[in-house]
Amino acid sequence: MTRDVKVDELLALGRDVLLPVYKQREMILERGQGARVWDSAGREYVDFGAGIAVCSLGHCNPELNTALIEQAGKLWHTSNVFYSEPPLRLAQELVAASRFAQRAFLCNSGAEANEAAIKLARKWASEQGRPPERRTILTFHGSFHGRTLATVTATAQPKYQQGYEPLPGGFRHVDFNDIAALEAAMAGGDVAAVMLEPVQGESGVIPAAPGYLQAVRALCDKHDALLVLDEIQCGMGRSGELFAHWADGVTPDIVTLAKALGGGMPIGALLAGPKVAQAMQFGAHGTTFGGNPLAAAVARVALRRLASDEIVANVARQSQAIRDGIAAINRELDLFTEVRGRGLMLGAVLKPEHAGKAGVIGDLAAAHGLLLLQAGPDVLRFVPALSIGDADVVEGLKRLQTALQALPRD
Ligand SMILES: Cc1ncc(COP(=O)(O)O)c(C=O)c1O
Repeated sequence: MTRDVKVDELLALGRDVLLPVYKQREMILERGQGARVWDSAGREYVDFGAGIAVCSLGHCNPELNTALIEQAGKLWHTSNVFYSEPPLRLAQELVAASRFAQRAFLCNSGAEANEAAIKLARKWASEQGRPPERRTILTFHGSFHGRTLATVTATAQPKYQQGYEPLPGGFRHVDFNDIAALEAAMAGGDVAAVMLEPVQGESGVIPAAPGYLQAVRALCDKHDALLVLDEIQCGMGRSGELFAHWADGVTPDIVTLAKALGGGMPIGALLAGPKVAQAMQFGAHGTTFGGNPLAAAVARVALRRLASDEIVANVARQSQAIRDGIAAINRELDLFTEVRGRGLMLGAVLKPEHAGKAGVIGDLAAAHGLLLLQAGPDVLRFVPALSIGDADVVEGLKRLQTALQALPRD
C-alpha cells in the first residue's frame, strides 16, 4: 500500500520541528466522534485511551460543543484580574460537588494543580510558624504528579527526574500501600503534607488498598499534616464515583483535578478544604489563563454530566464488560496475571514472560483499529470515555483480541 504523501510529510515535520520528548505513533489523527477516532487516511479506531483519560464524554460531545461555541461567541479570556461568570460558577459547582471544599483555584493542567497544592501546603505550614525544614511533602514510590520541577520531584520515579538535578528540596518518598513505612517517615514531625493518588495511574494502575487512605488520614491528623489527593487521573467519575476518595470514606484537605474535568479542554483545579482555604491571600499565587471563560464554560457542562447517575451507572457497566472481555481473551491467550483498578481506570498486567511488551501491543492494537495506552512497560491501560457505549466496548475488545492473537510468542 502506498503511503499518503501528506501523512509522510506531517510525520517528517513532527520529527523535525517538535522537541522529541514523545514517541508518537505513525498516524495523523483527524477527527473524532464519541469513542471513535479517524486518521487522515480515513481509518477508524475505537478509542480506549480518550487522550490519556481526558475526553471523558467522548470526542465532539454535542453538549460540550454547544457550550464551547456559545461561549466562544461571547468572551474567551479576561485574565483573573477581572471576574466572568463561567469560572465563578464552575468554582461554586466544584465546591458544592466536592462535599469538603470551601474554595477552588482554577488553572490549566494537572501539573499546575499539583504545583498549586504543593505551594498551598507550604504556605499553610509557614503560616503556622513552621520553619522550612518542617514543611516536607511526602509522596509515594510509583506516583506521578506532573512534569514541572516541583511536581516531577514529588513524582517518585527516578526516570522522570534524571538530568533535572538539582531538584527542589523538601520532598521525601515512601512505599505506597505500606502504612508502617509512612508512620516511620512521619515520626520526625517535619511533614507538612502527604500527597497521593487514590489510584496510581502512570506506574501501572495501582489502587490504594482497602483502608489505606483512612490510615493515611489518621496519621496526617496525628502529625498535623495535610492530606492532598491527586485525582487528576482517577477523579471526575473515572473510578466509579465523581471523586475517587468517596469510596475510601476519607475527607481530604486538598484535591487536585484536571484531565476529565474539561472533557478535552485544558483546565485544572485545586479544591481547598477549611484548614487551607484561607492560607493563600492576595498575591500569593496566580495564573494568566487559569479557568478562562472558554474552558470553564465547557467544564461546567462536563461536570454536570460526569456527576450524573447515568454516567456512574455506565462506568460500572462498562468496567465489568471490559473486565469480562479481558478475562475471555485471557482464557484463550493466557497473557495477563490480573486486571486491576477501579471503574474505567483498569490495568491488565502482563505475565512475566510477556513483561515489557505493552508498547508493542499498543502498536499492534493501532494496526488493528484500536487506540490503547500502556501504564509502564508491563501494563495495558484502559481509560476510555466514561460515556462509552456497549457497541464500542464490544468492538474494541474484539480488535484487542485480534491484535493480541497477532502478538509474536517467544
Ligand atoms: C495523577 C496525575 N497527576 C498529574 C498529572 C499531570 O497532569 P498534566 O499532564 O495535565 O500536567 C497526571 C498526568 O498524567 C496524572 O496522571
